[in-house]
Amino acid sequence: MPQPPAAALALPLLLLLLLLVVRTPPPTGARPPPGPDYLRRGWLRLLAEGEGCAPCRQEECAAPRGCLAGRVRDACGCCWECANLEGQLCDLDPSAHFYGRCGEQLECRLDAGGDLSRGEVPEPLCVCRSQRPLCGSDGRTYAQICRLQEAARARPDANLTVAHPGPCESAPQILLHPYDVWNVTGQDVIFGCEVFAYPMASIEWRKDGLDIQLPGDDPHISVQFRGGPQRFEVTGWLQIQAVRPSDEGTYRCLARNALGQVEAPASLTVLTPDQLNSTGIPQLSSLHLAPEEEAESEEGEDYY
Ligand SMILES: *[C@@H]1O[C@H](CO)[C@@H](O)[C@H](O)[C@H]1NC(C)=O
Ligand SMILES: *[C@@H]1O[C@H](CO)[C@@H](O)[C@H](O)[C@H]1NC(C)=O
Ligand SMILES: *[C@@H]1O[C@H](CO)[C@@H](O)[C@H](O)[C@H]1NC(C)=O
Repeated sequence: MPQPPAAALALPLLLLLLLLVVRTPPPTGARPPPGPDYLRRGWLRLLAEGEGCAPCRQEECAAPRGCLAGRVRDACGCCWECANLEGQLCDLDPSAHFYGRCGEQLECRLDAGGDLSRGEVPEPLCVCRSQRPLCGSDGRTYAQICRLQEAARARPDANLTVAHPGPCESAPQILLHPYDVWNVTGQDVIFGCEVFAYPMASIEWRKDGLDIQLPGDDPHISVQFRGGPQRFEVTGWLQIQAVRPSDEGTYRCLARNALGQVEAPASLTVLTPDQLNSTGIPQLSSLHLAPEEEAESEEGEDYY
C-alpha cells in the first residue's frame, strides 16, 4: 500500500495541536495545571521540533515550578523543565523528547506489569532505581528514595532528609482496623486488622471480659496471621463461625513489638431471626437468611 502523503497527515495533526494549545490557558500561579501536563508538553515539543532548536536565550525561559521529581533540561538543552515522576511515561530512546525525561534516581523502563496476552502494549515508565526503604527525618518510612524526594519537594519547608536506610523503628501502627459488624445467628463473621511495624509486630485478638487470648479452646473461633500485604506489614483475622448471641461483645486487635503496643476495638452484634424480622427491613432478612448454608461451606475451609 502506498504511504499517504506527509501533508495529508500533517494538517490534522497541526489542527489537533492548535486545539491543545488554544485550549490551555497560560500558566498563572505556582501550581501546575491539573491533568497530565507532561503529555501536553510532549505535543508542544513535537510542534517545536519541526523548527529545530533556536539559539538558546535562557532569559526567555519560563521557570518551572512545583517540580516534584526535580528539573531537567529541555530537548534543546536550553530551558529547565519539570522531570517526569515515578510511574509517568517516558522515552526509552534518550534522544527522543516526546514524553520527557525521568527525574533524579529514576530510570525509563518498559513496564512489564501489563497483560501482554490480552494485547496490552508495555509502556515505558519512570521507575525508581532503588527499591530500598528509608527512614525520613520526619520519622516516616518511605518505600524508596524517589518517594522521599517527592515528599521533600512537595514540602520544602519541612527540610526532609534521610535519617537512615531501612524503615524507621517504631511502635506498630494499625493501617486497617477491624470494623463493627452485625449478623444473624448462624452466620460467620470475620474481623481483620492490618498492621505496619518495624521491627515486625505480633498480633493477638482478645474479647472484652474474657481473660484469654483468642481462640483459646473455643472450636468455633479461629485466628490467622500472614505477612503483608506490603513489606513490614502483618495482617490478622479473627473468624467466628455460626455466631451465637453469646458471641456479642467487643473484640480487640492488639499489635505489639519491642517499641510499643496499639490496639483497635470492634463490636459484634448478633441478631436472632426474630429480632431481624422486627427491624422491619424485609429485603435484609431475605438476603441474609437465604444463602446461609452455601456461605458456610465455602468460607469454612480457609480459616481452619
Ligand atoms: C528548615 O531549615 C531552615 C534553614 O535551616 C530553618 O529556618 C527552618 O526552621 C527549618 N524548618 C524546619 C521545619 O525544621
Ligand atoms: C452476614 O454473614 C454473611 C456470611 O457469613 C455475609 O455474607 C453477610 O454479608 C453478613 N451480613 C452483614 C450484615 O454483615
Ligand atoms: C417475619 O415476619 C413475618 C410477618 O411480619 C412472618 O410471616 C415471618 O414468618 C417472620 N419470619 C421470621 C423468621 O420470624
